[in-house]
Amino acid sequence: MEHKSSPDTAQKANPGTTPNTIPTTRSGTAEEIVVLQNVVKQYPLGKVTVEALKGIDLVLYEGEFAAVVGASGSGKSTLLNMIGCVDLPTSGRVFINGIEIGKQNDKELTRLRLYNLGFIFQTFNLVNVLSVFQNVEMPLLLQGNFTRKERLLRVDQLLDRVGLLTHRNHRPNELSGGQRQRVSIARALVGKPKIVLADEPTANLDSVTGKEIIDLMQEINHTDHTTFLFSTHDERVVSRVQRIIPIEDGLLKQPQYNDALNTANALTGTR
Ligand SMILES: Nc1ncnc2c1ncn2[C@@H]1O[C@H](COP(=O)(O)OP(=O)(O)OP(=O)(O)O)[C@@H](O)[C@H]1O
Ligand SMILES: [Mg+2]
Repeated sequence: MEHKSSPDTAQKANPGTTPNTIPTTRSGTAEEIVVLQNVVKQYPLGKVTVEALKGIDLVLYEGEFAAVVGASGSGKSTLLNMIGCVDLPTSGRVFINGIEIGKQNDKELTRLRLYNLGFIFQTFNLVNVLSVFQNVEMPLLLQGNFTRKERLLRVDQLLDRVGLLTHRNHRPNELSGGQRQRVSIARALVGKPKIVLADEPTANLDSVTGKEIIDLMQEINHTDHTTFLFSTHDERVVSRVQRIIPIEDGLLKQPQYNDALNTANALTGTR
């Protein structure tokens, strides 16, 4: 039985989760797609305990293009892993699309991830023995409810969108870094997730390729309304997101907003 959290309940329970400026979306009212309430994550490390997250309150709104920004070891990847249901918090609550992840069994969590979340990694995490097509097809096979014809259509549509249809039969190790990241973007999007989590997606790319990858993700954010949350140190990403969410030693600081800048850039096609 899925537990649906009302956005209102989440905010009333913890007023600190509401940012100063609630971003508006093209559809008008912004829906809460991710809610974190007082999330703590501790890792046992020998005789000591590392507290990677020390009580995180955060709301992400549907259609946001946001980045968690902080120094190495500040907790960025841990935070993305909590949202990505890769790992459970030590305490606190995480809601994805209204569903509290702590109340799900393993099977339900896998389903929640498959249908709601897409992942993009710094090191691409592609399977080298599979072709580009097969890598992108993987989430659809795991979802299990598509015919072969439907998979073919959807994967080729995504590969065309990221400019790699001509490379569909290549192996990942025959591609450049930028092309590999395009494959992982296609793989992240093929299951039509509501949220894409991208952990330092441009860190292994040169500046021109990094910019192209950000352009592509921003275009997808604009046209499909997919929510993107990055972790990054990269100024090229930081300057392009709507909301910058600073993290310091496991705690979030006051967010900053880039909305005016991004709207202007989108209109003029610059950056
Ligand atoms: N599996 C783990 N076991 C023990 N400690 C961990 C584990 N994962 C992360 N940590 C610790 O938690 C803290 C936060 O790590 P995290 O990987 O989230 O940082 P980060 O901001 O992503 O850093 P980077 O920019 O280097 O990727 C660090 O002190 C790290 O050493
Ligand atoms: Mg990290």
